Amino acid sequence: MADFPDRKSRRASAEEKAKELEIIKGIVCGKNVVITGGASGLGYSFVNHFLEHGAKKIAIIDVDTTAGEQAVKAVTKTYGAEKIIFINADTSNYSQIHDAFTQLTTSMDSIDIVVNNAGILDERRWEREIAINISGMLFVANIALQFMGKDQGYNGGILVNIGQHFDFKTTAQLPVYTATKSAMIELSKSLGAPYHYERTGVRVLALCPGLTETALTINSPNRLSSRIMKADFVKNLENLSIQTPYIVAKGLMTILKCGESGSIWVIDNGNTPYEVVIPHYRSLKRSYKNNFIPTLSHPAIKGRPMKELRIYDNNIRSGLTSCA
Ligand SMILES: NC(=O)c1ccc[n+]([C@@H]2O[C@H](COP(=O)([O-])OP(=O)(O)OC[C@H]3O[C@@H](n4cnc5c(N)ncnc54)[C@H](O)[C@@H]3O)[C@@H](O)[C@H]2O)c1
Repeated sequence: MADFPDRKSRRASAEEKAKELEIIKGIVCGKNVVITGGASGLGYSFVNHFLEHGAKKIAIIDVDTTAGEQAVKAVTKTYGAEKIIFINADTSNYSQIHDAFTQLTTSMDSIDIVVNNAGILDERRWEREIAINISGMLFVANIALQFMGKDQGYNGGILVNIGQHFDFKTTAQLPVYTATKSAMIELSKSLGAPYHYERTGVRVLALCPGLTETALTINSPNRLSSRIMKADFVKNLENLSIQTPYIVAKGLMTILKCGESGSIWVIDNGNTPYEVVIPHYRSLKRSYKNNFIPTLSHPAIKGRPMKELRIYDNNIRSGLTSCA
């Protein structure tokens, strides 16, 4: 008797799983998917999961030709040569990515899902980090909308931007990388807003994995800006749990099923994906300290020309100057 409810709930969860799988297949099956940075790490795991769920064709866009060719070989062996395309292109180069998407329109009848995944961690070459993790991801997002948007004559689709979930207590040694990955959250919220979605029909999601076992993580201690930071970072890493790319790719399939446009999803410690809701700026807790006294010189009136709107009295020093 005691284990009866358990068995019942196990049966229910198996049914639920089967139902979820069916819905995911409905979203992925027969679809063409583009994955940047898909030759290795998380990207390669995404490739395999999309194919497992019946994707029609996958295009990997990556700068690493050797890894790209290996990926094509492995996928061909399991799923057949018609399932995979590799294009060598650098996401930080707008025209290379635009050319890659143009090339894909000849081998794919439509582009349905784009995973904006290519990224690096290298605090010593932070300009390159910004060029790939911010500019490159902006280029891919922009081009993905051009090649999927209903307003451009296409069918709409899904764009997934890869951010990262951080605990600043343990990753303070990665200031530039952290900034670049946080940018993906705001980009996704903005491009995923109804203003864009209603026009493009492209659902934009942000996926923020926690620490995951890939080359990026393994090499990260050697990509920091000082030896002291490396020592501190390695100490922190030893105390963190690390998940596999498989778990993240599996979670992505669930997110595709239930993520609304503009939503932000976290997968960390190998757990089920969960959505995070960033508070509206008006609801953020305000702290004025003692040296900052806001006064409303004019009540805010709707429709008043911008130049007439002055919230704070000019005679009072602003927050920044008052700190000096
Ligand atoms: N590993 C983690 O812990 C972790 C956690 C959260 C988010 N991420 C993010 O996930 C994404 C993938 O990271 P990963 O851990 O799989 O790294 P990885 O280094 O294992 O793989 C990255 C892939 O991207 C490719 N790439 C790099 N720069 C490129 C460029 N300019 N153009 C095209 N391809 C390029 C690489 O050749 C490689 O194949 C990155 O955006 C990363 O920031 C990683």
